[in-house]
Amino acid sequence: MDNSISMEAPSMSRRQLLNFLTGAVLATTATGALYPVVKFFTPPTEASKGGAILAKDKMGNVIPASQILAEAPGSRALIAGLAGEPTYLIVKEGGTLDTMGIVNNCTHLGCTFPWNPNDNQFQCPCHGSQYAPDGTVERGPANRPLKLVNVRLEGEAIWISPWIALDPRTGEKPWWV
Ligand code: FES
Repeated sequence: MDNSISMEAPSMSRRQLLNFLTGAVLATTATGALYPVVKFFTPPTEASKGGAILAKDKMGNVIPASQILAEAPGSRALIAGLAGEPTYLIVKEGGTLDTMGIVNNCTHLGCTFPWNPNDNQFQCPCHGSQYAPDGTVERGPANRPLKLVNVRLEGEAIWISPWIALDPRTGEKPWWV
């Protein structure tokens, strides 16, 4: 019985290892070289101006302005806003949007709520808080107005950015800043 160890096996292993390392080095080099090219040709989807982001749907797809503006004036359209927070955009007369978006997050305990067009209110189902169309409290237990975000149209792009100016509803510094 021949118990000798083949001398070819270690040689093949070294060759395979060398091939693997060569392939890895080539792949890394190619990735490094192609990354700037791919990045250059990829359209930007995120903010470039003051922390603004593009309005998206719940699947994370950018929503074109024409889709929202197809709704009747006075409609409230729900989008995914800053940090994915559900946010109402308000369609105005003349094919535009209100510059004030309203975050769908009840200031009582944080429930989301629907817009009720018949009562012209946001109505929280959790404990009955009611808000006016601009997000001010009409009935508690919530005692602070709904958070605002800035909305800006730029062609088909809807840009959402933090609202850090005075709250036009109270004339005071916003509670969320
Ligand atoms: S969470 Fe909205 S009323 Fe309590």
